[in-house]
Amino acid sequence: MEEEQGRIISEQHTTMIRMVQGQEILVLRDVLIPGGRIADITISNGLVMHAGAAGTGDVEIACRGKMVLPAGTDLHVHMRDGVQQEKETWKSGSQSALAGGVTVVVDQPNTIPPLTTPERVQERVIRAESQSYVRFAINGGVTSDADLAGMWEAGIFAFGETFAGPSSYGEAVSGDVLVQAMEQVARWNGLLTIHAEQVSEGDDSTLVEHDRLRPVTGEVQAVQDVLNLNTPESQLYFCHLSSADAIRAAVHGTAYREVTPHHLFLSLETFEPDDAHGKVNPPLRSESVRRDLFACWDQIDVIGSDHAPHTRKEKAMDFHAAPSGIPGVETMIPLLMGWVHEKKISIPDVISKTSVRPSEILGIRPAGFSPGDRADFAIYPNELTQITTESLHSAAGWSPYEGMNAVFPELTILGGVVVFDAGDFFRPDLSYDRNGTGLWVPGRGYCL
Ligand code: DOR
Ligand code: ZN
Repeated sequence: MEEEQGRIISEQHTTMIRMVQGQEILVLRDVLIPGGRIADITISNGLVMHAGAAGTGDVEIACRGKMVLPAGTDLHVHMRDGVQQEKETWKSGSQSALAGGVTVVVDQPNTIPPLTTPERVQERVIRAESQSYVRFAINGGVTSDADLAGMWEAGIFAFGETFAGPSSYGEAVSGDVLVQAMEQVARWNGLLTIHAEQVSEGDDSTLVEHDRLRPVTGEVQAVQDVLNLNTPESQLYFCHLSSADAIRAAVHGTAYREVTPHHLFLSLETFEPDDAHGKVNPPLRSESVRRDLFACWDQIDVIGSDHAPHTRKEKAMDFHAAPSGIPGVETMIPLLMGWVHEKKISIPDVISKTSVRPSEILGIRPAGFSPGDRADFAIYPNELTQITTESLHSAAGWSPYEGMNAVFPELTILGGVVVFDAGDFFRPDLSYDRNGTGLWVPGRGYCL
């Protein structure tokens, strides 16, 4: 029955795409809304028009017995591309996002060359506009020679991730550069995102050593230092906090706290000691630190993947030589849905931390079930599967979550159009979008 339904939906794709141009009506039938109500969701022009009993739609998708979630907004994705196409391209990375129920990504600026000028921002936008299957925003890099004002006007969303400690393709910035950035960002009412770490010299040859050289105490200290420097009071966003202590240190004013799936689902004990597949910054911690981090679940604003694709070949290298980073945009919500299945967390929490809060921070219309909401959804079956690398779409070609429980979406909808259906991708055409920016989400400083 389910297979049959999938086939019917597939056959309707041409209709779906036409629907947007012809402003036809899509109905999601019998959707279980969090809170318990069952309603039909009527969609037109990329937005939810009505939630309740619907008339006949031009296209209908049966959702009874499924879980329908507002699609995810992932505020921390390294799309690479350019000279790093072997690791990821906009096409492979954005398809990976869709297959994981994510329809909006924020790209990070530690590209090669680094994204620090308005010209590079413009080139990045043009490249993504022609390749991406998801909505996207672009962040600008913070370095001593970055043109912050130029990038703000070129339409970046946030400044950073700003490396308070060094990481792959990211140099640590000095306190002076950080304060100057804080002053400017505060003036524009912008957002400064921070990679908070302190790093010691030493023989970085195992996961235990990696954790020791980039310790929790250094992460906490870096958070405190950044907060102390922030007298201009720019809006801060702490990326990938890896410990309960760092979360507590970052509970301050209006700073946002992001945690990654890898720090919630993996610990250094998950891997052989010298296995670089577990090498990431900040490092995977011990199992007890991981558990304490999960205990802070309610203080986490955003789950962001820090999708940092490196190839299988690179990650199989000697521990010293292998780059740090873990791919995760496709497995982020499916892993969390696995926890929902196991009753460890609730669906409203998943929606809040992967969709509502990040969309609010990004300043876009929320995806959701109410009239006027953005019609971006992912439809999940009611059963667990195990993650296999072969079923994933990132060019990285590996996953540290192999064999773990997850629930993957069968279907993803962006702007009222089916863009992912059981393995097939369809590039959305948002020409109906009256804002005229298509898939790109420009920042508030954008001047045409
Ligand atoms: O492990 C990491 N890899 N941490 C970061 O902050 C950057 C990322 C990358 O870009 O590969
Ligand atoms: Zn980082």
